[in-house]
Amino acid sequence: MTDLSAIIADIVAEMADAPERGKVADYIPPLATVDPMKFGIAVIEADGTCHLAGDADEPFSIQSVAKVFGLTLALGSVGDQVWKRVGREPSGTAFNSIVQLETERGIPRNPFINAGAIVIADILLGRRQPSEAIAETLRFVRALAGEDGIYIDDGVAADEQRTGFRNKALANYMRAFDNIVHDVDQVLGVYFHQCALAMSCRQLALTGRYLMSGGRNPETGHSIVSANRARRINALMMTCGHYDGSGEFAFRVGLPGKSGVGGGILAVAPGKASIAVWSPGLNERGNSQLGTLALERLVQRTGWSVF
Ligand code: DON
Repeated sequence: MTDLSAIIADIVAEMADAPERGKVADYIPPLATVDPMKFGIAVIEADGTCHLAGDADEPFSIQSVAKVFGLTLALGSVGDQVWKRVGREPSGTAFNSIVQLETERGIPRNPFINAGAIVIADILLGRRQPSEAIAETLRFVRALAGEDGIYIDDGVAADEQRTGFRNKALANYMRAFDNIVHDVDQVLGVYFHQCALAMSCRQLALTGRYLMSGGRNPETGHSIVSANRARRINALMMTCGHYDGSGEFAFRVGLPGKSGVGGGILAVAPGKASIAVWSPGLNERGNSQLGTLALERLVQRTGWSVF
């Protein structure tokens, strides 16, 4: 029998000695000042058994991992209408790239690059005030995790706003193609606050449970999304969840996964486990260096790759 707790304890010990830890995101002070030695992992099995190791209880900025929850909410709100405004193909470009938008008439390749997530924020804003859309996102992730400790770091949101010139360019460019329909600043307010969600690996793995269990919260049995939709969100995570590093992540790890520049990755082993890792150092594609390595070792030792 696989002793998961022993496996993840071993992985934490191995990561503590790793020579190459990547480079911590430095575009805003709250990310730049995070200790690069931090490493946490949480694995929640389908039966609810929870394995934690390292800094698994320390909150971090989940950044683009939140794009998964934004997409889930937008699909719940407008269903497949989402796909009229956002594609489902990997971009092969950096997460904040603008180039494809010109020839593709303001339709982002997928919901997990910045441009796609900004369109999703426009959908979530709807006819509401930004504060209501932001509050809904926070309520949603707290409900998924089944606890209230998750929060939005207002300092991170303010810094995103202050430095987010590329995101402002993306939003305005898409506005010119009528693929952003609300006030650009309000849409970005929703997007920046979503990026500023903070939670621990344990809370992130709890939040992602519906994706391992056919769209249901395995603890309560409540349906979050249909099984079909969960399967499709997982497919997008596999093909697009690591930007221009998605092929490499599929090759090495072979699980649906979504990364963020805070160094977090949510990975899903369908039917088996919801997994969150956090190591702040990033590789050249903006994905967690050791988070990816840790997941690679986890699937090697558990056989959880979907391939
Ligand atoms: O919007 C941005 O550019 C930042 N908040 C970073 C988002 C992110 O995590 C992209 N990821 N790898």
